[in-house]
Amino acid sequence: MGNTTAVIYASKLGKTRKVGNYIAKSISADMFDLKKQTMINMSAYNHIIFGTGIHAGKPYKSLVTFLEANKAELAKKKTSLFICCMYNDEKGQAQCERVSSELGIAEAVFFDGKSEKNEEGFEIAIDDFIAKLRA
Ligand SMILES: Cc1cc2nc3c(=O)[nH]c(=O)nc-3n(C[C@H](O)[C@H](O)[C@H](O)COP(=O)(O)O)c2cc1C
Repeated sequence: MGNTTAVIYASKLGKTRKVGNYIAKSISADMFDLKKQTMINMSAYNHIIFGTGIHAGKPYKSLVTFLEANKAELAKKKTSLFICCMYNDEKGQAQCERVSSELGIAEAVFFDGKSEKNEEGFEIAIDDFIAKLRA
């Protein structure tokens, strides 16, 4: 049986790509970079994890466009969102809730790039997210 989870991400400066690769590797998910590919066959996946950076309070356009174009199909799947950003604490949380609601992905987490890191340089919060995905 193939992977049933995919990680689809939009990254401008590379952070979301690195985090997306780390998550995908950790759970053996397939991954897709919206910079390289915007037509993605999602039929094999029942869970799609989306990732994006934030510029001026907004998720990246390529992700917004992808979600809009695939609304009907995505409505039938489990979706999650991870956000790579610089705001932390309450500001990061408020931004995450707003973006999650704008994108229509209820399950959302954010990684602020400043919190405590593991040996590989990834935030502990990312490992916590992965642990939940595995559970
Ligand atoms: C021009 C610019 C604007 C940004 N605006 C925000 C913002 O509004 N909120 C935030 O939390 N982070 C903001 N950031 C930080 C980025 O979201 C963060 O560096 C993220 O990891 C970038 O992801 P990427 O490397 O995958 O593109 C901004 C960064 C840049 C360069």
